[in-house]
Amino acid sequence: MSQDLFEAARAVRDNAHAPYSGFRVGAAIRSKSGIHVGCNVENASFPEGVCAEGGAITSMVAAGDKEILEVLVYADADTPVAPCGGCRQKLAEFAGPDVKVSLAGPEGIRAVMTVAELLPSSFSLK
Ligand code: THU
Repeated sequence: MSQDLFEAARAVRDNAHAPYSGFRVGAAIRSKSGIHVGCNVENASFPEGVCAEGGAITSMVAAGDKEILEVLVYADADTPVAPCGGCRQKLAEFAGPDVKVSLAGPEGIRAVMTVAELLPSSFSLK
């Protein structure tokens, strides 16, 4: 288990701004330069909110990296929380099809999927 990614995602989840849904999410991405985290940040104008995964990707790119090596998404929910459709496309921009995405809750990792499993036949301009 990627304990460092788990701890990072669990910790950043506490910083989420989710007063509208009450659903707080943390995401941690491993890249060459280290671990990059993000949490969901909602807005009174609902479509302006951003997901945890998007925040972690922004942090990674700002740090100068463009290759995702591993991802972990953490949420307190009864079932594993999988990235939304938009976040799957965002992950596919920087992660190869075999990159692992762990879906975790308080007790640990609940499921591990690849980027290709999350988003088969992803759109690409290449
Ligand atoms: N959310 C994420 O941050 N990541 C996901 O993978 C699923 C959903 C957020 C968006 C919104 O702030 C809240 O969870 C409820 O949908």
